[in-house]
Amino acid sequence: MKGIILAGGTGSRLYPLTLAVNKQLLPVYDKPMIYYPICTLFSAGITEILIIAGSRELELYQKLLGTGAQWGVHFSYALQERPDGIAQALIIAEAFLHAEHCLLILGDNLFFSAGLGAMLHSLKTKEQGATIFACRVTDARRYGVVEFNAAGKVLSLEEKPLQPKSQYAVTGLYQYDEQAVELAKSLKPSARGELEITDLNNLYLKAGRLEVKQLERGSAWMDAGTPEALLDASDYVRIVESRQGIKIGSPEETAFKQGFISREQLLLLAKKLSHSEYGRYLTELAEDA
Ligand code: DAU
Repeated sequence: MKGIILAGGTGSRLYPLTLAVNKQLLPVYDKPMIYYPICTLFSAGITEILIIAGSRELELYQKLLGTGAQWGVHFSYALQERPDGIAQALIIAEAFLHAEHCLLILGDNLFFSAGLGAMLHSLKTKEQGATIFACRVTDARRYGVVEFNAAGKVLSLEEKPLQPKSQYAVTGLYQYDEQAVELAKSLKPSARGELEITDLNNLYLKAGRLEVKQLERGSAWMDAGTPEALLDASDYVRIVESRQGIKIGSPEETAFKQGFISREQLLLLAKKLSHSEYGRYLTELAEDA
């Protein structure tokens, strides 16, 4: 299974923060936002990752993340000329995917869930269809919304409904089989002019090939798309990290734990960052291993 991170967009809900800097490069407490979705893909054991973004930010991502070799993975980069919709990511990724299954994640979606890695690992053996992940929220109107019947069967999916039929939001993490590219090509732009990911998911739903998994109770899912959400995400990370003395969203640590890099490689990475508390944490992690 290959990974795709969609990390472009205008970030207009964060203006003026994002007038000169792409949203996914903004800090979420002690690391750039894009580190968190990278870790989600790493936790699924994914080592081939395509990063899709606009021309302004692609170079910055390349500077920050390089080839991925330092973390034992491979990053490719592709341009999205205009933010024409999330489903367009699959069309852009066609050559990269080479008819393989993929896990697509939005660059501003942060998942803090102990069981998610194992759940994603298990999808590697899934033969066909799509899987999306739902999470209960207080205001579902900002999201794709999934409606279930009493038996837990999915009845409908709607994008940002004014009157949501449930409190379950569709998160920005999607797993697709090889048919997703062709299906995405068949979509028509919505009223807001975008190729909607919810339209693609509805095609899978209508064909009876959509699975919706609920994130475990106690998991946290955030999208850092507004100033308030960005601060909430930073606060969450700061509180967990300072109380527990661990880091969350560290690609170095996740790569090490997944076996992508050795202890010696982790020590070398830590050394480069040793002036920061982050670097010292990685050194300790390697020394204790
Ligand atoms: O966060 C989950 C939600 O994400 C889902 O519940 C919705 O169904 C889905 O449509 C999406 O809604 P948003 O309105 O939050 O999407 P937004 O336009 O903010 O884009 C999400 C991320 O994807 C953001 O980091 C920017 C990036 N993006 C978006 C579009 C439309 C791109 O890089 N290119 C694009 O064309």
